[in-house]
Amino acid sequence: MRRPRRNRATAAIRDLAQETTLSTNDLILPIFLLEGEKKKTEVESMPGIFRLSEDLVLKEIEECLKLGIKGFDIFPVVDESHKDKLATKSYDSNFFYLKALKKIKETFPEAFIITDVAMDPYSSDGHDGIVEDGKILNDETLEILGKMSLAQAETGIDMIGPSDMMDFRVGYLRNVLDENEFQDTGIMSYTAKYASAFYGPFRDALNSAPKFGDKKTYQMNPANSDEALLEAQLDFQEGADVLMVKPALAYLDIIQKLKENFHIPIAAYNVSGEYSMIKAAGEKGWLDPTAAMIESLLSIKRAGTDMILTYFAKEAAQHLRQIE
Ligand code: PBG
Repeated sequence: MRRPRRNRATAAIRDLAQETTLSTNDLILPIFLLEGEKKKTEVESMPGIFRLSEDLVLKEIEECLKLGIKGFDIFPVVDESHKDKLATKSYDSNFFYLKALKKIKETFPEAFIITDVAMDPYSSDGHDGIVEDGKILNDETLEILGKMSLAQAETGIDMIGPSDMMDFRVGYLRNVLDENEFQDTGIMSYTAKYASAFYGPFRDALNSAPKFGDKKTYQMNPANSDEALLEAQLDFQEGADVLMVKPALAYLDIIQKLKENFHIPIAAYNVSGEYSMIKAAGEKGWLDPTAAMIESLLSIKRAGTDMILTYFAKEAAQHLRQIE
């Protein structure tokens, strides 16, 4: 008689039979960067996650590297007074975030540094593209994203992460990088980025919520999966090095489809809302937050990701170290 429980009978056989393993090598930590020095503020809707000034970001990266975390995605918190309709601060080489990126890369050349390419943190409209008469302009936005990408590449970072969902941006940015001798700077494309309610706490962290409307004319409809394959096909053809699905947990089927159909690394973004839900339920004593964290990350890996952007990166790395 076939008895599946035989392979679950002891810890030893469970470990031996385990198909998917979570490793610190899979984790990328998103970091919220503040202007100034010795500044640290907790994101209220993300317990345990802090916005940090450059000096403290350097310390954080150092600690994470010691834990074995290799990837970091840096998001600047931009003061309202620096925002404008064309996100001009995003490519001003004197602006704090570009100087900080340079410093980070100089201090830790071995750390893999990813940046976010989209207008929202720098835009007075809080949208990812240029707004005109309530519409988000696609082709005009590409020009700004090009300048932003180039300014970021000039700091020495390893990979840009276009998260804006404009059409043709991967090809456009690849050309801009190549024409300026940044052919070694990679592109992690936010390929299947859904118009999701799970980004709420991130927008609190950066104070970057749209000032009007929503992002449904550029981010994807959560009901669709064929569209994710179309986006992936375009980004693949346009030269993306990594295809990302975002959010992760409600979109495991999309991760699986991309993994099956495209033979380049697949990333998933375990977004702010997914982090906060576990933290909030944990604080209430409704579930075991550490077990829920590991189960979530393992599920994202099982679906087919090669790397996971997650606010849990440090905690998960600490946990993995303890159980080894
Ligand atoms: C910027 C961007 C967003 C996130 C990453 N890059 C917010 C958005 O598109 O509104 C969300 C990440 C998270 O929720 O953790 N375009």
